[in-house]
Amino acid sequence: MHNDIQRLLNPALQNIATYKVEGGQQAEIKLNQNESPFDVPMWLKEEIIREFIKEPWNRYPDILPYRGMKAYADFLGISPDSVMMSNGSNEMLYTIFLASLGPGRKVLIPDPSFSLYEKIALLLHSQIVSVPMLPDLDFDIDAILRAARDERVDCIVLSTPNNPTGKSLSFDSVRLIAESCDAIVLVDEAYIEFSRQRSVLELIDGLPNLVVLRTMSKALALAGIRIGFAIANPALMAELAKPKIPFASSRLAEITLTHVLANYSLVTDAVSYILHERDKLYDELLAIKGVEPFLSDTNFLIIRIRDARAVFQSLQSEGILVRNVSGYHLMENCLRFNVGLVEENQCLIEKLRTL
Ligand SMILES: Cc1ncc(COP(=O)(O)O)c(C=O)c1O
Repeated sequence: MHNDIQRLLNPALQNIATYKVEGGQQAEIKLNQNESPFDVPMWLKEEIIREFIKEPWNRYPDILPYRGMKAYADFLGISPDSVMMSNGSNEMLYTIFLASLGPGRKVLIPDPSFSLYEKIALLLHSQIVSVPMLPDLDFDIDAILRAARDERVDCIVLSTPNNPTGKSLSFDSVRLIAESCDAIVLVDEAYIEFSRQRSVLELIDGLPNLVVLRTMSKALALAGIRIGFAIANPALMAELAKPKIPFASSRLAEITLTHVLANYSLVTDAVSYILHERDKLYDELLAIKGVEPFLSDTNFLIIRIRDARAVFQSLQSEGILVRNVSGYHLMENCLRFNVGLVEENQCLIEKLRTL
């Protein structure tokens, strides 16, 4: 009946694309989604499942996952009023943007950064103030401060450490931005466990405009369970909770989180392994002619090569899946891959040497 279906829909859909992972999500050596190479051990999965089967599956979980929020607040040593849990941090991004953006509102996003920020802002008909990174992929702090002031932005999104560049802002720089800008400052700390920089979590009491975003998908190895968090001053948190999707986190997510936090040495051991491997990989990459690695503050590395498309395809044909990030601003001919197990990393290095 309607041959022009777009006419009936949100016009913003014409400016955004369906989320895709180039090369898919299956590979012998999968290094393309910044996941942990270590699954949760079987004994812990069994402990979690034993608790999960006692739950009533026919009953809704709490409107907000208070058990999970209490567990994380206790783990961080802060008040549960400052914490909100979501079905992955992606869901929380939608919630925070719904609370802070809309037609006529402006969001500052450094470029390149995590693609979802721009997508949600466009869906909400907000104006994006894009601030380019420096040529070495570092944040341009002066330009961020200037653009925030001149453009009078309503929201600033800082992924630090940043995906896809792997670079971080210092604690003091984030504080300076949050203190001097009259905007909601969303600090996405998805990779903070791998960072040399300190988290800005301790600033939430003094900075009512600051929101910290965390995910359990990276260092905590729970990408398949979908757990994210926002942490902010209780007054701001009460507002952010208004557009939140009710019942979005499952009982399984809450139980899993509680058990993983109770066994946190699994996480710290995995992080030590990954950091050791990351630094080793960086040195090995430096020694390969035609490969330029960038220093990383995350669980992934960026390299620049002569022909990223061709190398991506050769690696894929050998069962090694990485991310071609060449389409991002300043990242022409760059590939991104997360640190894997020793043998996976070795395989990648050997293949890159032969290419
Ligand atoms: C910067 C950043 N924020 C958020 C996410 C989303 O994580 P989640 O799995 O919690 O939705 C990612 C995932 O890659 C990310 O890189």
